[in-house]
Amino acid sequence: MTTHKLLLLPGDGIGTEVMAEVKRLIDWFTAQGIASFETEQDLVGGASYDAHRIAITDEAMVLAHKSDAVIFGAVGGPKWDDVPYELRPEAGLLRLRKDLRLFANLRPAVCYPALAESSSLKREIVEGLDIMIVRELTGGVYFGEPKTITDLGNGQKRAIDTQVYDTYEIERIARVAFDLARKRNNKVTSMEKRNVMKSGVLWHEVVTQVHQRDYKDVTLEHQLADSGGMNLVKWPKQFDVIVTDNLFGDMLSDIAAMLTGSLGMLPSASLGEVDVKTGKRKAMYEPVHGSAPDIAGQGMANPLAMIASFGMALRYSLERGDLADQVDQAIAAVLAKGLRTADLKSDGATIVSTSQMGEAVLTELQTLMG
Ligand code: IPM
Ligand code: MG
Repeated sequence: MTTHKLLLLPGDGIGTEVMAEVKRLIDWFTAQGIASFETEQDLVGGASYDAHRIAITDEAMVLAHKSDAVIFGAVGGPKWDDVPYELRPEAGLLRLRKDLRLFANLRPAVCYPALAESSSLKREIVEGLDIMIVRELTGGVYFGEPKTITDLGNGQKRAIDTQVYDTYEIERIARVAFDLARKRNNKVTSMEKRNVMKSGVLWHEVVTQVHQRDYKDVTLEHQLADSGGMNLVKWPKQFDVIVTDNLFGDMLSDIAAMLTGSLGMLPSASLGEVDVKTGKRKAMYEPVHGSAPDIAGQGMANPLAMIASFGMALRYSLERGDLADQVDQAIAAVLAKGLRTADLKSDGATIVSTSQMGEAVLTELQTLMG
């Protein structure tokens, strides 16, 4: 049996709590001989800053490069508000994305039938929703230079962030989106702001070219990112795959998360280019929710996005789509039974803790695979 090398980076806040529930699954799969994992664990974010005065160490980066998949919790919190910008917890996450070249961020927003009532939107708007946001993750305004604050000397300062995209960056993310659409409902909606941004003009042009050249069988539609956001809450079922840049993808995926009932439900996969020699790609899996300092340490965080992220690792990195399907089914079953963490309020639901939720998922898996 192949042994999968995982690097676990729980990070800060609820990151450590939800990661414990993934460990529970890993241990069970291993004990049952269903899969074989070799796990290492290290610090990232504020936890790493506290120990090493840096948001991720070179040693942890070496482990990340060597792993088949990085499983990441969350970073940040008010404790590190005054840490210098370069050393802030988020810098650890951004270095992982940049150094591992994880340009393609897949954020599936699925509304489980049992959760249609938990969304702030009406049931008919979200029930049965299944969309995939493909966010470009290593370019755009997150990484563009210059990125500075300059003192103008007259009591004023000037802050600059740079939104920059090259053709190849847009091409490769467009391909990821079109390839995914072919396996889904065959539709891609590209979102940018070509009415005000040059990068939007190029984005629109390149996505159109890639479509014309290689993906004419897929339906392509363009929306301006602001009205795209509006459409996401107005009638989200019009979308199948949404492809967008780093910053718009960050915002639109938080919006999409709420369609599923809670930010605590959205998993994500960040993927690099496939290595032609090995056929493998670097990858990191993380829940879209953050470290949620307001509820950290209380055992009330929802571990489902973290567990579903591990499911995505099984599917996209470890060639265990069979196990990923079981994990997804177990999550759906637990929700169907009425178990809810506090973020998923609904009438008549049983509120459970983080570990009770993790345990319930494992129990369902045992039933499904027993
Ligand atoms: C996300 C997060 C990150 C981002 C933060 C923590 C740097 O919001 O993954 O969506 O902005 O990309
Ligand atoms: Mg975000």
